[in-house]
Formats: sequence, C-alpha cells, structure tokens
Amino acid sequence: MVYGLLLAFGAVFLTLLVVDTMRLGAPPMPSSARERLAVVALVERRAIELARPVRVLEAGAGWGGLALAIARAHPDFQVVAVEGAVFPLVVCAVRVLLHHLLGGAGLTVLPGDALRADYADVDVVVAFLGPETTAELAARLAQLSHPPQVISVGFAVRGWRQRARIQLRDRWRSEAGLWVFEPGP
Ligand SMILES: C[S@@+](CC[C@H](N)C(=O)[O-])C[C@H]1O[C@@H](n2cnc3c(N)ncnc32)[C@H](O)[C@@H]1O
Repeated sequence: MVYGLLLAFGAVFLTLLVVDTMRLGAPPMPSSARERLAVVALVERRAIELARPVRVLEAGAGWGGLALAIARAHPDFQVVAVEGAVFPLVVCAVRVLLHHLLGGAGLTVLPGDALRADYADVDVVVAFLGPETTAELAARLAQLSHPPQVISVGFAVRGWRQRARIQLRDRWRSEAGLWVFEPGP
C-alpha cells in the first residue's frame, strides 16, 4: 500500500516536472552557490547605485534558493519570487513560509507566468531561464516606460547592453551579467 502510494507520487512528480519543463521551456535546475553569490553581488551593486534598498523580482524562482539567498543577505530588500512550475512552486512557498517563521523578511512568492508579472515598481529582475524565455522577458520589459535592469545567469540578454559581469570559476566558465535596456535612436 505505502509502496504503491510512493510509486504513484513519484509518477505524478516526474510527469508534472516534464510537462512544466516543456511548457515553460526551462527545467527547475537550481543555481549553484557561486551563481547565487554573483547574483547577490550584482543586486548589491544596483542598490549602491540607487542609494536605497531595491525591489527585486526573480522570474522563474524554481525551488527558491536564489531568492532566499538575496533575502537573507539583504532583509531590507523586497524580493518577489515568481514561479510557474507546480512542484518547485510548492517547495519555494514552503521555504518562504519557513523563512518568515524563523524571523526572515522581505520575501514573497507568487505563482504564475513570469512573462505576465507586474514589473511596474521593480528595480532589478533576476533570471536564470532558457535563451528563448530570456529573450521574451527582455522584449516584455523593453515595452515598459522604465525598464528594470536584468541580472541574467548563464544567458545574454540580446539587444541589451551588458553593464557588469561576474565570470564564475566553475567548470562551464558561466557568468552572471547585469544588463540595461537602451532604446535605439
Ligand atoms: C533554471 S531554473 C532556475 C531556478 C532558480 N532561479 C535558481 O536560480 O535556483 C528556471 C526556472 O524558471 C521557471 N520558469 C521558466 N519559465 C517561466 C515562466 N514563464 N514563468 C514562471 N516560471 C518560469 C522554471 O519552471 C524553472 O523552475
């Protein structure tokens, strides 16, 4: 009986992961510790430039590790974690709840499509998505009157200018970059 239930749960878990990955175009692969440190450093850079705590939206927060790293490093920042895949979203929401129960602050989780999120008051968008979704997100942000800057892990934001980058000393020589939209003449 227990074995059957575990098997059924495993099948539902795997099916939903595969379906969500195909639907959203990116698997819920968590960022590495080095990638998180690099993103936190780039978010800090933006806060120093603006001379105030920043509002961060993570587009595709997965299991929540990166959003938590930012919120733990800077409890005065407002961090919104948006995730569209069911299981990562549930885990992310539980971790955010625990964060608050343990006295943490500044972190909210929102279910849904990050491409349709409200970016009106956002200073920095953090994204570790596939190349196509990154391009779609950039196109959406470019339509705003004041597009937020984007910190992208692993992928270039095509058509935007890279202002800063942190090259990681990992086996893939991956990087995190801070990108700004500059409208053409
Ligand atoms: C590579 S993972 C990164 C997870 C997390 N940002 C991290 O760094 O640990 C990409 C995540 O983005 C989510 N995702 C992709 N497209 C999305 C969309 N349009 N809306 C919401 N979530 C999305 C996927 O479900 C996946 O969990």
